[in-house]
Amino acid sequence: MIIGQDQAIAALRQLASDRTGVDPATPSSARLMTAARAALGEDVRPGEIIVAAQALHLGLVQEITRAAVVCETFFCRGPLDFAAVQDHVRTLGNRPISAWSAACATGEEAYTLAAALMAAGCNAPSVLGTDLVPDHIAAANAATYGRWSVRIAELFPLLNGCKDGAYTVRQDVRDRVRFRVHNLLQPLPPRRPFDIIMCRNVLMYLPTKRRRVVLQNMLSVLSKDGLLILSAMEFDPVSLPDGLEQLPMDSVQAFRLRRAGSKKSRPVSAIPSRSQRVQPRAQTRPPATPARNRVQQADKRPPVEGGADAVREHVVILEQIESGRRPRALRRLKSMRQRWPDYLPAMLEEALLESGQGNTKAARKLMQGILMMTDDRPVLEIVKGPEDLPVKYFRMAAAAYLRENRSNR
Ligand SMILES: C[S@@+](CC[C@H](N)C(=O)[O-])C[C@H]1O[C@@H](n2cnc3c(N)ncnc32)[C@H](O)[C@@H]1O
Repeated sequence: MIIGQDQAIAALRQLASDRTGVDPATPSSARLMTAARAALGEDVRPGEIIVAAQALHLGLVQEITRAAVVCETFFCRGPLDFAAVQDHVRTLGNRPISAWSAACATGEEAYTLAAALMAAGCNAPSVLGTDLVPDHIAAANAATYGRWSVRIAELFPLLNGCKDGAYTVRQDVRDRVRFRVHNLLQPLPPRRPFDIIMCRNVLMYLPTKRRRVVLQNMLSVLSKDGLLILSAMEFDPVSLPDGLEQLPMDSVQAFRLRRAGSKKSRPVSAIPSRSQRVQPRAQTRPPATPARNRVQQADKRPPVEGGADAVREHVVILEQIESGRRPRALRRLKSMRQRWPDYLPAMLEEALLESGQGNTKAARKLMQGILMMTDDRPVLEIVKGPEDLPVKYFRMAAAAYLRENRSNR
């Protein structure tokens, strides 16, 4: 019998699914074949691939695993999740807090979690970061990152400054985190339960029955007053084990162990509903600033946010920043502000760049501008950028900066 490439690809799909949990149809054939060739040689024949897949050839398993997962992450991703974590640990008193960043990729989430806990006043928290891919864990342990990992504002003391295009994690934060390789489809070895578990941007790649396995594994290591946070995009109520119940939180998918006697209610998506997006905030609005008033009265044009063009330009600028071309990036950001004065992500970027160059006064002015421009916008409205973020994020980042840099007023 002649074994063809289709059968080899089917074997690779099965291997990818068994190993990572993804639906066998998800990884692309081209990616899987490239991975197989990297492990077994350019001239490998389909029959040899099938034999290697069945024998769980170590190199093949590693390459296929790498090919089947998405490793996209950055510091302070999902800022509202970290705010929810901080609020929660403040209710737990002074006990030592332990947290798990499950599927932490290259470590940015685990370090952010440690920094958020420290900023919330936790005394010597401990954070475990785990991921399936050993290379990701090695990168997490190295704790050195490029600009792309720092694409949104640092909300808590987390990083040392940028040196030769590289950011390192502060030693006091590193000291709170350790990493290990672990597959979410397997339970963690028995241990003291976690007060916080974050598992974000991974379940969305898994079919429902696998999500259930992962959530069941988490439930068994969550403390009785612990908090589990998933990301908004990936939660489907069908995969929620009976032992977990959802907490009613704005824009955050948070869960805890089901309390005795609590009724099962239908879990809800954290993605803001249309009405949430268009409703103005309930609180009384302070009067708009004179400058903004003038612009609005003299010029009734809609806000100039730039849409996809602005986002594209912003991504190019991020690459320039990453490769150390900061003065040029700053010039381009200023020019962006002329063209798209309401495009918030570039304004925040510019403020951070000014601040990184010691221009606190300019940075403060931009941060104040962000607060003024967002004053009358619904806090849950999503702002399009390299990463889509709610208005609330820009307000939190600007307010935090202004708080920390008061002395230079
Ligand atoms: C998109 S990243 C998410 C990183 C981080 N949680 C975040 O939200 O920024 C997904 C990570 O899940 C890991 N992963 C995928 N399947 C896994 C599994 N079965 N067990 C553990 N980690 C897994 C991948 O290696 C990858 O690093």
